[in-house]
Amino acid sequence: MSTTWEERVLRAAHPVAVPALRASRRPVQRIPRLGVLVRDAAVLRSVLMDSDHFSKSGPGAPSDLWTPVLGPAVLLNMEGADHLALRRKLGPLFSPSYVDPLVARSLPSAALTERLRRGETVDLVAEAKRNASIMISQLVGLPVDEVDDALFERVSSITRFVRLSRPRLTETQAAAARQILADLTTHARAAWREGDESTVPGRMRGLGLGEEEAMGAVGAFVLTGTETLVSYIPRLIALLVDTGWMPRLANDAALVEPAIAEGLRVTTPSPVMLRSVVAETSIEGVSVRVGDRVILATFLANAAAGAFDPIGNPAASLKQLWFGAGSHFCLGAPLAMAQTRATLGALLDAGPVRIVERRAARGVLIPSYASLSVTAA
Ligand code: HEM
Repeated sequence: MSTTWEERVLRAAHPVAVPALRASRRPVQRIPRLGVLVRDAAVLRSVLMDSDHFSKSGPGAPSDLWTPVLGPAVLLNMEGADHLALRRKLGPLFSPSYVDPLVARSLPSAALTERLRRGETVDLVAEAKRNASIMISQLVGLPVDEVDDALFERVSSITRFVRLSRPRLTETQAAAARQILADLTTHARAAWREGDESTVPGRMRGLGLGEEEAMGAVGAFVLTGTETLVSYIPRLIALLVDTGWMPRLANDAALVEPAIAEGLRVTTPSPVMLRSVVAETSIEGVSVRVGDRVILATFLANAAAGAFDPIGNPAASLKQLWFGAGSHFCLGAPLAMAQTRATLGALLDAGPVRIVERRAARGVLIPSYASLSVTAA
């Protein structure tokens, strides 16, 4: 069987880790030097729901990566009552009434349709990066006319060195990452201090977030939300073109949502989640000790439900596992869905498209295309 482009994208990002994790056969298995691998959807969910034994803070957990860069209290390295309180405060930022205008301002969807209709070739990765830069500028309170494409590159340079076998930054890399975030949050601090509610940091202040809480949240959004979307949107479009689904969606709008969910399932932009064991227990008979790292291989669990199929829609049974589960379920999911719908809608409005050139990105944390050029078919 010829290798699909999805497979090439995954392997270009993680040529060693992907085959190593795939080689496991049991639902739960200890892998020397890496940790305890979980690849079954139900077991994976049960770990995500059990914060008494598994935490995002501790050896091998995401806190190893994020705490030196973002500080100790930025959602993705918090647990318990403080975590819940911060999520509650941030909730209104992801309501449709807040997200929809934000997306409308950051995604020039009509312009994208127009360019394709005029016969232009559009690199959807460059487009997604540009949109991500605009989104970052909104999150940090920068005027949109100050945005340049370098903004995305600076943010993504922070995660470039991270690997499953090397999940933390060196002190030099962490210092560089802190500098990038300090530069970005200069604007966010000013916006928070002014309390101008038309900016995201100003709105955060209105929602009761202190200055440092708000800066941590801004950093977390910028780091978690931009690369995942720059990965997902081009991968979804490539998948839809490769499988012949674009014209079918253009003819039947009811299939758009299942296609987006199925796209999320088969691409799983955030392929792996990590937890640290904080109290001794066992996972499906495999004993785990305090300090063990648990690797939740979402991409394997999602793939086990079968090939891309918006009609059978096996994604429906997975309760959006690609966005996590339990207390850390992706806060930005409504924003991610709104951006995806807007871009896919713009492409469907443009009429049939074909892919003229593409390249998988090598050595990145979040598997992605480096370029994906499309034009009207
Ligand atoms: C397709 C796009 C996206 C995917 C697949 C995705 C996936 C995920 C996953 C799997 C988690 C849970 C990680 C874990 O439990 O270890 C997560 C958490 C999170 N995501 Fe997303 N995400 C996406 C887009 C976004 C966007 C656009 C934002 C915001 C601007 C965002 C903000 C967050 C935040 C703040 C958390 C941490 C929540 C917490 O720890 O309480 N994400 N995301």
